[in-house]
Amino acid sequence: MKKLEVVLQSHSYPIFISSGLLEKADELISSLLRPKCHKAVLVSNQKVFELYGRKLIGALSRLGLKTSTVLISDGERFKTLRTVENIVLSLIEEKIERNDLLLALGGGVIGDIAGFASAIYLRGIDFLQIPTTLLAQIDSSIGGKTGVNHKLGKNLIGAFHQPKGVLIDPSTLSSLDGRELRSALQEAVKYGVIKDVELFDLLEKNSKELLAKDDSLLEDVIYRCCYIKAGVVSRDEKESGERRILNFGHTIGHALEAATRYKRFKHGEAVGYGIIGAAQIASDLNLLIKNDLDRIQNLVNAFGPLPKTDNIDTKLVAERMAQDKKAVAGRLVFILPDKIGSVIIEEGLPSELVYNVLKKILKGRV
Ligand SMILES: NC(=O)c1ccc[n+]([C@@H]2O[C@H](COP(=O)([O-])OP(=O)(O)OC[C@H]3O[C@@H](n4cnc5c(N)ncnc54)[C@H](O)[C@@H]3O)[C@@H](O)[C@H]2O)c1
Ligand SMILES: [Zn+2]
Repeated sequence: MKKLEVVLQSHSYPIFISSGLLEKADELISSLLRPKCHKAVLVSNQKVFELYGRKLIGALSRLGLKTSTVLISDGERFKTLRTVENIVLSLIEEKIERNDLLLALGGGVIGDIAGFASAIYLRGIDFLQIPTTLLAQIDSSIGGKTGVNHKLGKNLIGAFHQPKGVLIDPSTLSSLDGRELRSALQEAVKYGVIKDVELFDLLEKNSKELLAKDDSLLEDVIYRCCYIKAGVVSRDEKESGERRILNFGHTIGHALEAATRYKRFKHGEAVGYGIIGAAQIASDLNLLIKNDLDRIQNLVNAFGPLPKTDNIDTKLVAERMAQDKKAVAGRLVFILPDKIGSVIIEEGLPSELVYNVLKKILKGRV
């Protein structure tokens, strides 16, 4: 069992990582319960619940908790206030109290929605993240960002609400779709480039084995990514400084997703293009040497193929980029690598430079 900690002023919380952890989740959960916790609510969707719900229900009943289950529809399009309202309705009907516990079992969509419901119900109750996709295990379950989409934009409604703990069972990835896995590995590439050259090497040397879901390698990668995210969040919970480096690859990535109405790319795939773009910009500015540029771009492609981009309008992507909610006073914020394992934060790059790189990427000339 590997254990990490997110250390915050308000409260710190553990991240447990271990294959098969769900079988004995009661031991871990018992250490995280409030003394007066009598009830638990498990939020998931049908698919994930059928795969892993029973193990968790077993663990909760061994703890003597009265447990109810709320299943929500599967998919990003259900990440809405309406779904949150339905969850809250169930919490009221089940008479869930301040000391009780909510558990989010699923991918990032479940974690974000259920986390948000737990942030606003009775002004906040405890919740646990039990992520079952690679993206959720290395990224979304840690850091306390919860929320839902609005029809005018992604993640526009939300709250910081840190979980009481994160329980990661990498063996749940055995049932994960191959495209979800490849897409999430782009986020792992992100962590390697921003902070961990050893992680980058590991991904580079073992890309095939990782794509074949080698258990122990996946566990290693998850641990290293969580180590980085936990550290960054501990030092900058609300993203006023260092946490912004986690947006490496996301300035272009988010714009690509928005320009294609969130239909063409998985999030990580768009980030893959964003990583290629940011590395290219860094190289054009003579920040990054050619060998590192090649290694970064080759690694992204090793976890491809990425969806085609040749019929996407460069202007539209540039416009979406200008609307990025993380822009500061209208200026784009770019995270740029100066070598593998290290980045700088750059505000106010010449828009022509960015535009040209964007054009090249979209035409597949990078
Ligand atoms: N809060 C944050 O800090 C943060 C960070 C990154 C992303 N996100 C959010 O995360 C969401 C994306 O998360 P995601 O990529 O996990 O997508 P997802 O939650 O939609 O999961 C992808 C698919 O995999 C299925 N699934 C989940 N676990 C499975 C398993 N073990 N086996 C088989 N199928 C499984 C899901 O039911 C779904 O169909 C987005 O809404 C994004 O905004 C949040
Ligand atoms: Zn991301």
